[in-house]
Amino acid sequence: MFELTETVPDVDEFCDLRIAAGLSAMDRPAAAAALPRSLHAVSVRDGDRLVAMGRVVGDGLHVQVTDIAVHPEFQGRGLSRLVMESVMAYVHSLPASTIVSLFADVDWLYGKFGFAVPRASTGMMLRR
Ligand SMILES: CC(C)(COP(=O)(O)OP(=O)(O)OC[C@H]1O[C@@H](n2cnc3c(N)ncnc32)[C@H](O)[C@@H]1OP(=O)(O)O)[C@@H](O)C(=O)NCCC(=O)NCCS
Repeated sequence: MFELTETVPDVDEFCDLRIAAGLSAMDRPAAAAALPRSLHAVSVRDGDRLVAMGRVVGDGLHVQVTDIAVHPEFQGRGLSRLVMESVMAYVHSLPASTIVSLFADVDWLYGKFGFAVPRASTGMMLRR
């Protein structure tokens, strides 16, 4: 059975799961510094193995949903929904004025939780 905890993954398993899920590789020292600063984090384990995760980062005025990933061997079993339900419970505990954003590779997932493409502004990224 899968176990969900509202905890931050370890640095190596976080970096490895991002890569396994097809997300970009992260600098490990930067991840070690960043993960403890998460506002909210979710880890889903199959035994000791991290199989799904998600985080909310920011300062409470502006927050971003990040690092939503499920290992390919475990996709299609509802794990991202479990992760997002924990993430959204945290998000809805914040003041209504908090700006909540994300960059969606999978808009079909985030649309289920109320996210929509804004009409008045465009999300932008700096590519380096
Ligand atoms: C995207 C991802 C997180 C989905 O995780 P998952 O555990 O396989 O998804 P789930 O099984 O929880 O499915 C969630 C919902 O999406 C639906 N869904 C799954 N795949 C879908 C698809 N390709 N198109 C539309 N809906 C889909 C499911 O039916 C389910 O709906 P329900 O909860 O209303 O029944 C996972 O595939 C992944 O890690 N992908 C690579 C990394 C990535 O793209 N992360 C997001 C970065 S923004």
